Amino acid sequence: MSHTINVYSLPSLVSPDELIGGTVVVVDVLRASTTIIHALEAGAKQVQACLEVDDAKQMANQMTAEDVILGGERNGLPIEGFKLGNSPNEYEPHIVGNKTVIITTTNGTRAIAHCHKAKRVILGAFVNASAICRDLIGQQTVAIVCAGTDGEISSDDVLLAGLMVDRLQRHGDINFKLNSQAITAREQWLSLFALPVSLGGEPLEPEKLAKPLSKSLGGRSLVDLGLMNDIVDSARIDRFDSVPEVDTETLRIHLS
Ligand code: MLT
Repeated sequence: MSHTINVYSLPSLVSPDELIGGTVVVVDVLRASTTIIHALEAGAKQVQACLEVDDAKQMANQMTAEDVILGGERNGLPIEGFKLGNSPNEYEPHIVGNKTVIITTTNGTRAIAHCHKAKRVILGAFVNASAICRDLIGQQTVAIVCAGTDGEISSDDVLLAGLMVDRLQRHGDINFKLNSQAITAREQWLSLFALPVSLGGEPLEPEKLAKPLSKSLGGRSLVDLGLMNDIVDSARIDRFDSVPEVDTETLRIHLS
């Protein structure tokens, strides 16, 4: 049986129809996928992805005020009238526990919506990299769709795609067929961090991974906004062991 991993460095590089029938990992390392995972791990009942600020507000207005909390960003900054921005560490248990988080971000939530025709959509970040890779082993057709930044490729997403491709390739039992962006992403990852710890490589401390992430397009904007801590938080590999799964009809996200 043949297995395929296709990486798309931007959502615009794959049409929704091409994703039909497969599993898609949506990646927005800085910061939407990282933040959504933090929210769910902090005990949020669910995260509702939303494309527009007004839609998010309207949805929140239809719910009981104490059951819902609005979060997200525009141009990296908190949205007026929203309780939370898009920093992963804002999503703490006493703030989001047992609530529905309605989130809208510039690129990440759009990337999620773009993949709505896939059979299954999950969210990947460095903070849950191993959990995602374990989930993907044995899946026949995998697409890794990177959110990018304002329509441009952002290397933070590509690096994570490269790590995932590398891990899956090294798994051994399965020979994955890769598209050219998957090969490039893997090479990009290996050019920075050649060996996994299991093969004698050095443990990848968050501060070390945060350096190349901070030089990506999305990373540079966060550095300009004084949000380097968010980059370090996004670089904590395997902090969590969960896989957030998107309901492709409603764009509600739960831990699977
Ligand atoms: C996005 O969706 O593009 C990100 O959330 C951007 C950011 O975190 O500032």
